[in-house]
Amino acid sequence: MSRLVVVSNRVALATDTKARAGGLAVALQDALMEKGGVWFGWSGKVATKPPDKPTLTKVGKVTYATLDLTRKHYSEYYNGFANRTLWPLFHYRLDLTAFSRQTSHGYMQVNAIFAEALKFLLKRNDLIWVHDYHLIPMARILRKKGARQPMGFFLHTPFPAMEILVALPQHRDLVEALCEYDLIGFQTANDVRAFLDYVVHEAGGSILGDHIIEVFGRTIRVEIFPIGIDTDALVQAGLEATRGAQSRMLRKHPGDRIWITGVDRLDYSKGIVKKFHSFERFLEKYPAYRGNVTLMQIAPPSRSEVPEYREIRHRLEAESGHINGRFAEFDWVPINYLNKSYTRLELAAFFRTSRIGLVTPLRDGMNLVAKEYVATQNPHDPGVLVLSRFAGAARELHAALTVNPFDYDAVAIAILQGLEMHLEERIERWEAMMEKLRTNTLSIWRDNFLEALGQAPYG
Ligand code: UDP
Ligand code: G6P
Repeated sequence: MSRLVVVSNRVALATDTKARAGGLAVALQDALMEKGGVWFGWSGKVATKPPDKPTLTKVGKVTYATLDLTRKHYSEYYNGFANRTLWPLFHYRLDLTAFSRQTSHGYMQVNAIFAEALKFLLKRNDLIWVHDYHLIPMARILRKKGARQPMGFFLHTPFPAMEILVALPQHRDLVEALCEYDLIGFQTANDVRAFLDYVVHEAGGSILGDHIIEVFGRTIRVEIFPIGIDTDALVQAGLEATRGAQSRMLRKHPGDRIWITGVDRLDYSKGIVKKFHSFERFLEKYPAYRGNVTLMQIAPPSRSEVPEYREIRHRLEAESGHINGRFAEFDWVPINYLNKSYTRLELAAFFRTSRIGLVTPLRDGMNLVAKEYVATQNPHDPGVLVLSRFAGAARELHAALTVNPFDYDAVAIAILQGLEMHLEERIERWEAMMEKLRTNTLSIWRDNFLEALGQAPYG
């Protein structure tokens, strides 16, 4: 049987019991612990000199192989090209995208260092599965070094429309590198469409059908694999949460407080500023709800050394302060804004006691929080998911109240609709969403991808 080698920038060590924020780490940890294999990537540490080989740690069936980054590489590769160029570009934020030859060079260097270190760990029968925008060039470098194993790539973020992507000076080189993988997986049909549009109209490739394309002289497979959650574990967490301290604390809050919950990394792509404006609009339009509905917004800091992330943090402090200043009473604040991360069980308690899960990203590859909110609900009295049409999850969770986060009035109306929805309709919508979450779990996502990768090469 093949050994699975997962490669990603972010690695969540199983020994690290701190609360995590970030869908990739959460999902891969669940996916790997069950199946076992190697998880290769960045240690999360910045070191003074470049490491010569990865640190190996074995926990259960998983061997973690991690490398430190030098300060220069951390700044050019992680804070620079990955998170100031590719991330905003892939999330349709050309206005925030920085273009720099130097960070692009640092990105290539780190990919080369990672590939060199990984090469020594590989065995002939391995299946190599690389994740996300940080490490797109890995396959090309590994192939040049003689690696022959099947290599798959999964993009957790959106893939941008061709017109956006071509603004990147290195777009052709990046896509050519991406096409060195045998299998490329995307979250939604939208992303596949955008990619194929580039392949056909910019790269002169052709679609052969049955997920197979020919481009840059290679025959590769391109497919949608919408990432799932560990549905059973979250249902269980929702149950356990009813007994937890958080849940008791929320229930004890003054009055019959109704909670609306949002959980997002502190990232401009999550649309938290617009979410606050929409909630403000809700309070303006429906004054009867003032004093009894509170938006609890959990937003753990993320990528804090990137200027655009520092800016969004200041902006959110100002906006929440402004709205609270405008509406708060001595015994009620409209927005409870929490700048820290919580464990899965704690989040489950927040979700379970919230009448609405308010998930309104401006662009999101999938958004696992939306799925987790649904899975942790009480089947006999479930809350309502209000979900942005721009989250990948909206492609599956049709029974959510779908909104356009740029339209504050529409979001305010959806909040009202969620608060006033009868039990029967809430149950009906929840059951429809649970059906999706049960038929596309995290293990199914992983197994489908690996089964397809196991069939490589496709030419
Ligand atoms: N998360 C967490 N603690 C927090 C905030 C988030 O464990 O305080 C987890 C959350 O449960 C989810 C993931 O981080 O599994 C976020 O994934 P999502 O796809 O929603 O967004 P991302 O942060 O990956 O863009
Ligand atoms: C998104 C990205 C992941 C990333 C996560 C957290 O989910 O797709 O690749 O790991 O955000 O961001 P961070 O920069 O902390 O790894």
